[in-house]
Amino acid sequence: MMTIVPIPSDSYKLGFIGAGKMAESIARGVIKSGLLPASQIRTAHLGYDRRTAFESFGVKVLDHNSQVVEDSDVVILSVKPQVVEGVVLQLRSLLSEKQLLVSVVAGVKLKDLQEWAGHSRFIRVMPNTPAAVGNAASVISLGAGATKDDGELISKLFGAIGKVWTADEKLFDAITGLSGSGPAYIYLAIEALADGGVAAGLPRDLALGLASQTVLGAASMAVNTGKHPGQLKDDVASPGGTTIAGIHELEKAGFRGILMNAVVAASNRSRELSNN
Ligand SMILES: NC(=O)c1ccc[n+]([C@@H]2O[C@H](COP(=O)([O-])OP(=O)(O)OC[C@H]3O[C@@H](n4cnc5c(N)ncnc54)[C@H](OP(=O)(O)O)[C@@H]3O)[C@@H](O)[C@H]2O)c1
Repeated sequence: MMTIVPIPSDSYKLGFIGAGKMAESIARGVIKSGLLPASQIRTAHLGYDRRTAFESFGVKVLDHNSQVVEDSDVVILSVKPQVVEGVVLQLRSLLSEKQLLVSVVAGVKLKDLQEWAGHSRFIRVMPNTPAAVGNAASVISLGAGATKDDGELISKLFGAIGKVWTADEKLFDAITGLSGSGPAYIYLAIEALADGGVAAGLPRDLALGLASQTVLGAASMAVNTGKHPGQLKDDVASPGGTTIAGIHELEKAGFRGILMNAVVAASNRSRELSNN
């Protein structure tokens, strides 16, 4: 068995297989945070638009995935789930434990990734779409051959596009149901709050702005005050006031149960899809 060579945390070369939206968000975040300069990041694509998107912020775009692998210490797989097996099998002869492999591919298990790659120095990450604005919630899970230092390196990397947690891979379906699908639930909530504002007489633009900023502000309160959300709710619901009247309507309609069901349904669907 090959000895695991530590990856130098500030001078490593980072390669993306799949020059799509997620790769672009990570690359932009990493460069913006100063974690790595653009000169240490590369990807491959033959299409003009994707090449230009990456080159516009200094990332080298090669012609072939094999060139990315040959020139990187950390390789992030960021292709769609349907193609990942073929992509990894094609690169297999170039892959070794000298490199740390990372997958952000939704629903594809470490066991399969490791089998296709031929080694287990692998880390699986589940980010979410707010990565595009530097506010992702990402969870990482380490493969059998990944070291503690590898885990820290990747936590730092995904820390450049939001917050990072480490969890056992068996929790990934539940994580998909909560943070993976969760942004869409909140978009629905923002739209509905805005509709409520319009119904109560506000102009659409004002209603949408207030709804979005209110969700952002409430999330910041939950993250930054350290208070339990139940306490934050109690703090703003004065006796006989407006807020408790609104909360009463939400409770009558089963608001909490609906959100819980949504997370459980999406988790179940994730489990179904990843077992196919
Ligand atoms: N977007 C998110 O917020 C998010 C969140 C969690 C997880 N993920 C995961 O991230 C992965 C990428 O998602 P995405 O949103 O970035 O998708 P995307 O924008 O479609 O990016 C995928 C990229 O891979 C390229 N590609 C296809 N086949 C390839 C091959 N054989 N070799 C190299 N590149 C190839 C595609 O090229 P073309 O341009 O020619 O199609 C495209 O540029 C997915 O597995 C997804 O599950 C994404």
